[in-house]
Amino acid sequence: MDVAFELEAQDRLKALPPRAPRPPVTTQIAPESAAAPAQRLDLDIAAAVQDARRLADAAPDLTALEAAIAAFDGCTLKTGASRAVFARGRADAPIMIIGEGPGADEDRQGQPFVGRAGKLLDRMLAASGLSDQVFITNTVFWRPPGNRTPTLAEQAICRPFVERAIALAKPKLLLLAGGASAKSMLNTTEGILALRGRWSDWRSEDGETTLPALPMLHPAFLLRQPMAKKKAWADLLTLHAKLVELS
Ligand code: URA
Repeated sequence: MDVAFELEAQDRLKALPPRAPRPPVTTQIAPESAAAPAQRLDLDIAAAVQDARRLADAAPDLTALEAAIAAFDGCTLKTGASRAVFARGRADAPIMIIGEGPGADEDRQGQPFVGRAGKLLDRMLAASGLSDQVFITNTVFWRPPGNRTPTLAEQAICRPFVERAIALAKPKLLLLAGGASAKSMLNTTEGILALRGRWSDWRSEDGETTLPALPMLHPAFLLRQPMAKKKAWADLLTLHAKLVELS
């Protein structure tokens, strides 16, 4: 996973219109057989998003949501993964950490951030007094092959489940770990080095919920670049201060 975190993923979704308002599966496009392959792919993505949204919205609690994710077949990542990886931590925690996607250790153990990067994250949370204040999940729920960065399409297909997790867990703050998480959740193309340490507003797709979101460097990046830990530490202090301010 390490090498892939900072890479830009190529993605078909770039051809789609911006996220909000919710994209309907349009009936104005020519029948599938007549549509160009790129249009068919876009239709497939829109249909998968719609399916995910239907399942996510029907989940009354986080346990049901986890089951809905495990039963969902609309994300192609599922075919290469051992299992769905949903979340760990306190369901009613004030902070939701959203990483990029499960790696090999997570795929084996079925929980997010349990490998080397996760252990570093846990140590950093403990050092900043936030260990029991977090619920941890990812932008996608299946390990991308070869630990590559999840594509925007994969993230878009999983997003209704992430949105539902936020709606059910009701965190006060989001901590976005890594560039692929920050870009996807904040719908921006800015890089993590520019985004980190600055509060942004995360807005739900229906526009009804807004939450303060803080991008931070991914712990896997910190393992490769230990000098950057200073910045991550500063970000966790920023997070802690905001939590105090909101309580
Ligand atoms: N990296 C992530 O972004 N998420 C995990 O769950 C593990 C490693």
